[in-house]
Amino acid sequence: MKSYNIKTFGCQMNEHDSEVLAGMLEAMGYRSTEDAGKADLVLLNTCCIRETAENKVFSYLGRLRRQKVANPAMIIGVCGCMPQQEGMAARMHQLFPHVDLVFGTHNVQQLPVFIDRILAERKPVLEIWPEAAEITEGLPTVRKEGLRAWVTIMHGCDNYCTYCIVPYVRGRERSRGPDVIVREMAALGRDGFKEVVLLGQNVNSYGKDLKYPMDFAGLLEKLDGVNGIARIRYMTSHPRDFNEKLIRVIARLGKVCEHFHLPVQSGSNRILKEMHRGYTREHYLSLVEKIKFYIPTAVITTDIMVGFPGEDDDDFQATMDLVKQVRFDSSYTFVYNARPGTPAAEMAEQVPEKTKKQRIQDLIKLQNSVSMEKNKEEEGSRQEVLVEGKSNIDPGLVYGKSRGNKTVVFPGNIILTGAIAPVTITRAHLAYLEGFIEK
Ligand code: 5AD
Ligand code: SF4
Repeated sequence: MKSYNIKTFGCQMNEHDSEVLAGMLEAMGYRSTEDAGKADLVLLNTCCIRETAENKVFSYLGRLRRQKVANPAMIIGVCGCMPQQEGMAARMHQLFPHVDLVFGTHNVQQLPVFIDRILAERKPVLEIWPEAAEITEGLPTVRKEGLRAWVTIMHGCDNYCTYCIVPYVRGRERSRGPDVIVREMAALGRDGFKEVVLLGQNVNSYGKDLKYPMDFAGLLEKLDGVNGIARIRYMTSHPRDFNEKLIRVIARLGKVCEHFHLPVQSGSNRILKEMHRGYTREHYLSLVEKIKFYIPTAVITTDIMVGFPGEDDDDFQATMDLVKQVRFDSSYTFVYNARPGTPAAEMAEQVPEKTKKQRIQDLIKLQNSVSMEKNKEEEGSRQEVLVEGKSNIDPGLVYGKSRGNKTVVFPGNIILTGAIAPVTITRAHLAYLEGFIEK
């Protein structure tokens, strides 16, 4: 039996695409192996959001070169966002002649055809589609986890934030029809999944392109009624399109969790404008106020970038002030990295690396102290925890996630996995909460 190994770089979207790649390979009779060196097929599902992501792929390909010398029959494939960039597939082929297969984000469904072609002709295959075709439904999927399932609700992004490469490599926004999403979720419920994470680059744009009008709030209402699934999460949201109606719907629906991941990127209006984000600091703050009004226990997290071109000390201070004002439970922090082909890469005032480094350190320090305070506020509270398994902190402990998406550990038996436990929080840490199950 032939074996495959998929190495995934980047976001949840890529993780989920890898589950589809795995599904197609298993349908062809391939079986998964942990050992890339011994696999008949190694596939790298790549990311290009920052240069560091690309460098990881290049160094992994370098390592595979040696493994292919020992195992010459091995097929090496590269797919995902990286080769979808202009000229990158040809560059990869030139730099890494041991790569047999290169394809992009728009022709994933062709993987079986490509493999057959390589096996028959023993010649490299490079095929990138410049644009997305109709969404291919019904591809087999092998999910990695047993409790939480990722479900794509839309592909692509039309926002063109000036720093971001995603719209260039993921194509225009295309929504999946609500009925196929409902059917997929119902099947997941029957298969024993407890939580669904709805995926899209900007879930708040959901449905704009559908023949029969439907918005994200409407989709959530439909999905909340699906049997079997206990929790619904979604990512990622865009603050420009997030509105009061949606907050009210989320507050009302029992399965949709009270976790709002709302990437702000910057606290400075001038920078937000240059980023082409389409909202102001004031709009963002009023959105947060509304969330806290309807759902006082809401957990709010964000993405923040420092060092966008032209960001001066005042702009950075505005971001720091915003963090203090909103008091995010946690945030993903990034140093701006110029992506070739994006408008921001051409902007004149690139911020020196040293300044970026100082700013990210200051920001992380502030965020950590805010996160600790926020976690401490949960001490004494009762949280519903979906148990995921044994904790690696101590064999007598199990761990899971609260509705706000915080990790909670508590004494318990592994048999609780998949159940929702009422846990009283006793002690906060920066990265998790400790508690005990109520008798
Ligand atoms: N440089 C640094 N961070 C970036 N992100 C997107 N593009 C870039 C870039 N060029 C960050 C944004 C986004 C997150 C997924 O990655 O904060 O929300
Ligand atoms: Fe990139 Fe902006 Fe689209 Fe997010 S919304 S994927 S940051 S262009």
